[in-house]
Amino acid sequence: MTDAADSLPVRRLSDWDAAELLALTEEYGSPLYVLDLERVRQNYRRLEAAFPDADILYAVKANALGDVLSTLREAGAGLECASAGEVQRALEAGASGAEIHYTAVNPPARDLDWIVDTWDEHPDLTVTAGSEDTIDRLEDRGYDGRLCLRVNPGIGAGHHEKVRTGAAAKFGVPAERAVDVLTDAADRGFDVVGIHAHVGSGVSSDQLDAHREFVARMGDLAREVNEALRASDGRTGSETTREASEAVDGLEFVDVGGGFGVPYREDEDPLDLESVADATRDALGEIDAELTIEPGRYFVADAGVLLTEVNTVKDARETTVAGVDAGMTTLIRPAMYDAYHPIRNLTADAPASSDRTERAADGRETAPQTVAGPICESGDVFCTDRELPVSKRGDHLAIGNAGAYGYEMANQYNSRPRPASVVLADGDARLARHRETVDDVTRPEREARRASNADRKNDHGRASDTDNDER
Ligand code: LLP
Repeated sequence: MTDAADSLPVRRLSDWDAAELLALTEEYGSPLYVLDLERVRQNYRRLEAAFPDADILYAVKANALGDVLSTLREAGAGLECASAGEVQRALEAGASGAEIHYTAVNPPARDLDWIVDTWDEHPDLTVTAGSEDTIDRLEDRGYDGRLCLRVNPGIGAGHHEKVRTGAAAKFGVPAERAVDVLTDAADRGFDVVGIHAHVGSGVSSDQLDAHREFVARMGDLAREVNEALRASDGRTGSETTREASEAVDGLEFVDVGGGFGVPYREDEDPLDLESVADATRDALGEIDAELTIEPGRYFVADAGVLLTEVNTVKDARETTVAGVDAGMTTLIRPAMYDAYHPIRNLTADAPASSDRTERAADGRETAPQTVAGPICESGDVFCTDRELPVSKRGDHLAIGNAGAYGYEMANQYNSRPRPASVVLADGDARLARHRETVDDVTRPEREARRASNADRKNDHGRASDTDNDER
């Protein structure tokens, strides 16, 4: 890739090659997620250039496909994981313990058991706890490894109420309690390494003030924590020389989370990364710890599209409905957050001829359309009354910016198998995850039934053995 291509701050849906995408649905079927790994790499490089002095983790929850994890790891990112499952994926992608941060939010016992077992083999992994209970539960399991505390800074930001975490009671220990909790954890033998907060997701340039205020609070907190940790280490917290501060344990990092917004609307400007980076550094001030960030969406959103086929076109009372084979089970963001995703009719955009030099739009009229999925819910629509080329049955549409929180939030409601995923890498396309079948959806039930029948048969067998013995 050229430097010029690298520097493009956003890839719009119109930048994708319609004929190539159509060829992919032809080969792999519909609906289909497509993810371009080179674009993921470019997004990483741009962020790294804006934050050259920060440690960068990738928030795996945005897209946990193994190919994405290995691509970002190879580019230099560590991995922030929200569950034992994501940690397992990170390890499978080749990450070392030192590259993994596990952020525990009300962690199920099964997750903590697994994490503590895994820590035995990977003693450098970091656990971020969001409550005192989590710290106690880690201690109960014998964990005294690297510990970071998630704090609740009382400031939220983000594209929708449901993704503003910074002030949501569910997340983190109230910042004013952080010093006590961390000095106590250090006294109990944990290796206290960091503080963490994530104010929300999809933070835009116009929310820079909230970002600045939040980061400033994290900077103040880091200085306070460092002083308290050093004081509780039996030294005077007032020693300020470099030698003195290096001689005692303090925080290794301050993690200010992810949340970097991307433009979903065609006319929306991309985030001004340089301003965000400047504001972050300014607000943080001098701290004796590394800055860590952990974006998810920023790396993958515009690297992915969802392809879907029109199967129904009908004039409804107030609108024309284009019924498609993807739905809220495939991409839930419009139903869940009223999120806007760009939509393009690939069939109308691509050439009738396969000669790519003769490609031209097919000159269709446009009309307001509601693109709706196959799920029996009125919320199952990707857009309402949007001006699009008049749809025809059999057309293929592309839904843009689907690389983040797309497949990850897909589910099997209405007994719908999840779609296949294809990755583009080194000029080739390959299947990265097969399309589920109805058989995949019903397998857990069938297996449970088989197992309980077998149990019943065994019990029955044992019962008749006992009967025989007693006779
Ligand atoms: N770190 C933590 C602790 C997080 O909880 C999240 C996202 C991130 C980092 C990454 O945030 P990002 O850079 O991707 O904005 N499903 C929603 C987004 C939920 C985000 C949850 N946490 C959506 O589709 O908009």
